[in-house]
Amino acid sequence: MSRLRFGIWALVHGSRAALQDPDEPYDASWERNKKLVLEAEALGYDSVLVAQHTINPHDESLNQLEAWTASAALAALTPRIEIISAIKPFLYHPVVLAKMAMQIEEISRGRFAINLVNAWNRPELEKAGIPFLEHDERYAYGREWIAVVEPLLRGERVTFKGRYFDLHDYQLRPADGFRTRPQIYVGGESEPAKDLVAAHGDVWFINGQPLADVERLIQDVAARPRQAAPLRFGLSAFVVARETDEEAHAVHEHLSELAKKDAPIRAVQKANTDPKVVMMQTMAKTPRVGSNGGTAAGLVGSYATVAERILAFHHAGIELFMLQFQPFEAEMHRFATKIMPRVKEMQQGPKMKAAG
Ligand SMILES: Cc1cc2nc3c(=O)[nH]c(=O)nc-3n(C[C@H](O)[C@H](O)[C@H](O)COP(=O)(O)O)c2cc1C
Repeated sequence: MSRLRFGIWALVHGSRAALQDPDEPYDASWERNKKLVLEAEALGYDSVLVAQHTINPHDESLNQLEAWTASAALAALTPRIEIISAIKPFLYHPVVLAKMAMQIEEISRGRFAINLVNAWNRPELEKAGIPFLEHDERYAYGREWIAVVEPLLRGERVTFKGRYFDLHDYQLRPADGFRTRPQIYVGGESEPAKDLVAAHGDVWFINGQPLADVERLIQDVAARPRQAAPLRFGLSAFVVARETDEEAHAVHEHLSELAKKDAPIRAVQKANTDPKVVMMQTMAKTPRVGSNGGTAAGLVGSYATVAERILAFHHAGIELFMLQFQPFEAEMHRFATKIMPRVKEMQQGPKMKAAG
């Protein structure tokens, strides 16, 4: 199985659990994100996910970090961490996006990845005059889009005629000088999302949810038709860890109370969301804080509890844990110092007693 890796969600739209938290004032600025990612890298995190939203999906009057320009700058500033930038196909023609991805791949010296997501926030597209297609039609568009982008990333000369795109003899240079091409992650939980990732993805991002559900999803998608190397899996999760389970649950309760203050914002967000989006249906099943499943993955508890659950998910096939915290910087530090070494130790098994 692939090496277990930990990543963080960049704070592209501020706090992840509750927007009105005195311990984490709203801040989605470049300066904060730059510092955060440099700190994450120094602490040993392997990956950063930069979500893509043109307008803030919670409240459009709030600041929103731009994913692709920020990712390019992060690529230049960091030496080691993987940079994953989300992309909604409707916003970029495939040749433009493939070209930008190849440039960030060069700047980062082979550490770049895209996360293909097929949109849920209606006003982001509609207010720009871009049609918000019906759910499965969005996936048909996304599938054709990635079928064009993928060979361009490999440096191939592409001729393609489909329903949406018509390319003739198109090739991008320079080709990837570090590996075959940047990695392709996919986020989305519906049937067409599962087919898309099986056919075109390298890694499937699963929304945070209980272990049994994650096991079922992995088995389902791993069994779908696929030409490439076996699919790998990532999990989004919000972590609340303390010395004891009781302390962690109290903090979770505190964050849940704070999150209630965002009810009016969430109501607008719900009204803006395509009701067919499976991600939102999954998240409605389990009370939680955080986005993309958040604490529904159960990474709430003592350091020992959280480390054990991480290993259980890893044994089920999860390679990359894409993590959220609040307040982010302090809790990201706690995770790196209290949980990462514990997980490593548990993976190595019980220590041999010194002979003598
Ligand atoms: C790890 C992860 C990251 C995501 N990042 C974004 C993002 O950056 N922007 C966005 O609009 N949607 C994002 N999404 C949401 C997907 O767009 C969403 O799952 C999809 O549009 C809904 O499709 P579904 O019905 O297949 O779940 C993300 C989903 C996952 C699982």
